[in-house]
Amino acid sequence: MTVNTLELKEISKSFPGVQALSNVSLIVRPGTVHAICGENGAGKSTLIKIATGAQSADSGLIQICGDRIDHASRRTVQNLGVRAIFQERQIAPDLSVTENVLLDRLPKRFGRVDWKNAKIQAKQRMDALEIILDIDTPVRNLSVAQLQMMEIARAVSLDARLIVMDEPTASLSRHELEPLFRVINKLRDGGVSVLFISHHLDEVFEIADEVTVMRDGVVVSHGEISEFTPASIAELMFGRKVSSSQADRTSQGDLSQPRLVIDKVCSNRLNDVSLSVSAGEIVSVTGGIGAGVSELARMAAGGMLKSSGEILVYDDSHESHAISSRRQALNMGVAYLPADRKRKGLLLERTLSDNIVLGQQAAGSNPILTPRKVTESARAIAPSANIKAANVDVVVGTLSGGNQQKVMIGRWMGVSARVMIFDEPTAGIDIASKFEIYSELRRLADSGVAILICSTDFQEVGQVSDRVIVMRSGNIVGEIEGSKATEGRLLEMEMSK
Ligand SMILES: Nc1ncnc2c1ncn2[C@@H]1O[C@H](COP(=O)(O)OP(=O)(O)OP(=O)(O)O)[C@@H](O)[C@H]1O
Ligand SMILES: [Mg+2]
Repeated sequence: MTVNTLELKEISKSFPGVQALSNVSLIVRPGTVHAICGENGAGKSTLIKIATGAQSADSGLIQICGDRIDHASRRTVQNLGVRAIFQERQIAPDLSVTENVLLDRLPKRFGRVDWKNAKIQAKQRMDALEIILDIDTPVRNLSVAQLQMMEIARAVSLDARLIVMDEPTASLSRHELEPLFRVINKLRDGGVSVLFISHHLDEVFEIADEVTVMRDGVVVSHGEISEFTPASIAELMFGRKVSSSQADRTSQGDLSQPRLVIDKVCSNRLNDVSLSVSAGEIVSVTGGIGAGVSELARMAAGGMLKSSGEILVYDDSHESHAISSRRQALNMGVAYLPADRKRKGLLLERTLSDNIVLGQQAAGSNPILTPRKVTESARAIAPSANIKAANVDVVVGTLSGGNQQKVMIGRWMGVSARVMIFDEPTAGIDIASKFEIYSELRRLADSGVAILICSTDFQEVGQVSDRVIVMRSGNIVGEIEGSKATEGRLLEMEMSK
């Protein structure tokens, strides 16, 4: 009889005011990829934190490779061959890629770190995933997508028995997944099991053997992937049918009225980039790692120095203002949502309402904020960003990953901005909420805002934009109308010479 890699029996867990898990059972068989699907806040991360000893359950049983684990700690579970990539990034920003990849497993020789060997090992892990990165560089210089790749390199190894991946792909573009999937297939062939969480159902169907669907802390369905379709999983996740109802894309954009103009901008990474976004328009920029998409977002928001070129924002009387700092951009009504919400965005220890009104404070649009106004304002905004929380006084750090991301989006929804720049707006957000956010973005555009979206998600840019601009290695390589921007077409443009 084969022994299951992981068995969770009737796991329950509550936090003050929230029953995060109720009697959840799950079995991961050896050499299989098991996906967990569920909307934001369904309890996926809590479940895998319990399975990996990062959090303790209130009740229930954990068995790893047949051994019953009574007091699971990260260390005991790791010693049993379980590796995990958590949704909250685990990195030491000042250390190099080599140190971060090998972390607590740096090879030693005569009691000292064997650097030569460490670098070889780190390089081998990166090569297997086809990741090209300078292994001596401190990881603080890496982009969100590169960090994600690095964490994958840390977790995947054939000496593991179970690898848990909580949204490993949230900011990777489609073709960057292929090496990851090749590695997962190799692991599976070697008998390693993978527990995989993703809001991208196409990935789930591509890689998973089995799937467990959760809703509000309970398992609502489980089976082999062949028993499901994307639509049936979505229906189970949300308890209703989810249609990918396209937000109406009849742009109200007045192309004679540019709001944001990026003119021949060059920097370390960007090479002669020009584009403009008009009032009422949604323009997306897409591309893979190293394309420079994220840099462009930051640059356009005034958050990064350029070596030449100009960024101009036009005011209501069509006068242009050159942007040279983030503060100045804010004064001109440029809202910016960075991709890295943990490092650059959220005050995790503060309440939901404090975090939401930050946008209004920064933009100076609501200077006198009494505590009552803060609460009222947050209550008004939270639903439009689809934030699921018990109330607006909860501490943001206790929200699920996707709900934290929605707080970032919500922050800018209460601000009357001229230009909004979103870098990876819906990374980690469940599909139903995505569609609602797309409609909300369209509503903002229709009210006259110029919106620039930087995203590696081809489906997203195809769904939400009037125009899509494709970048590679710091250059713009093509532009296409939003309605024609299918995944296939975008991939072709990105790869074309
Ligand atoms: N430390 C905590 N304190 C209080 N509540 C918490 C804590 N951690 C999680 N929760 C709550 O437990 C529930 C489940 O959260 P969890 O992070 O497991 O969701 P998830 O399925 O991973 O969602 P997502 O797709 O957004 O990542 C949520 O209601 C969340 O607010
Ligand atoms: Mg989660």
